[in-house]
Amino acid sequence: MQPTPAFTNQDIGVVIRWLEDLEEALCAIEGAAACMLTPSGLSAITTTLLTLLKAGDHLLMTDSCYQPTRDFCDGLLARMGIHTSYYDPLLGAGIAALLQPNTRVVFAESAGSLTFEMQDLPALAAAAHEQGALLVADCTWATPLGWQVFELGVDVSVHAATKYIVGHSDVLLGAIMCGQALAARLRQGHRELGMSISGDDAYLALRGLRTLAARLTLHQQNAAHVAQWLSARPEVAQVLYPPLPGADGHALWLRDCNPRYANGLMGVVFAPGISAAQVDRLIDATRLFGIGYSWGGYESLIIPVKPGKLRSVTAERWQGKVMARLHIGLEDPADLLADLQQAFAAMHGG
Ligand SMILES: Cc1ncc(COP(=O)(O)O)c(C=O)c1O
Repeated sequence: MQPTPAFTNQDIGVVIRWLEDLEEALCAIEGAAACMLTPSGLSAITTTLLTLLKAGDHLLMTDSCYQPTRDFCDGLLARMGIHTSYYDPLLGAGIAALLQPNTRVVFAESAGSLTFEMQDLPALAAAAHEQGALLVADCTWATPLGWQVFELGVDVSVHAATKYIVGHSDVLLGAIMCGQALAARLRQGHRELGMSISGDDAYLALRGLRTLAARLTLHQQNAAHVAQWLSARPEVAQVLYPPLPGADGHALWLRDCNPRYANGLMGVVFAPGISAAQVDRLIDATRLFGIGYSWGGYESLIIPVKPGKLRSVTAERWQGKVMARLHIGLEDPADLLADLQQAFAAMHGG
């Protein structure tokens, strides 16, 4: 039997290089001065908020946030004496009226989870900065390629790298990105909370990052086919996909985003008369779409969603709507459309 080789300083150097290479690459793509890696997208969000807020502070959180972000605000942050109130994601400069003297952070997520509202980041940034607050944005949907987020006025950008950056649904990873002004503060909070990631995860994320642009190009092409096809179906009232011409948020997407790098995530609002049970039948009938929550890998996914049950200030907008979320993967678009065609037939009992 061969003796187990000793773990050398050189090996440790390689692992550190993977971490540093990933941080440097993400900074270069997004135009950030500093990057801190965390073990999940959610921990990038929690680490940022725990670092920037203290007891007695107020946080303005978009009503369209990822649900575990809301759970964290209503749970741990509330228990620590940090108060969160929720705002309509469609508010731009109007957010000024909601800022309180103790508001330290405005948190955006664009496009919004499940409901895909595009947010006016420059308007939110201007209002927040006027009051001495910071704008933090969950930029997972856009990816670091989707926009130059710091030019839009964002102070801290957080990513679930788990999604498109890793790209293969096999690593949980988060990234906190910021400019020089906040780097020391966020590095300290990141260290104090013990956020570290494994070298293997950094290696896999670096491998994913190499094909991010190529994958997004294909996700975007496939998603455009599917979004257009769905828009023409009589069972569909609305496709929630800001890159689609005519969709809600399209003007802001054109203004702020890099049109070469949209992604494959979209929502569908079904037409009145289509029941949740029929949508379950459609989902069960698909063959190429997995039923999965965590998007951004190469496979297509579909799930039913009920945002009306999750929202506070915008619940009415979504209540009673029968909806689904689709992630369009890298399969042949003709195969995806054929699969959806037969699934819609099955939904009607065909
Ligand atoms: C917008 C958004 N932010 C953050 C997260 C959390 O990422 P993770 O699963 O890596 O914790 C998710 C996960 O679905 C997400 O959709």
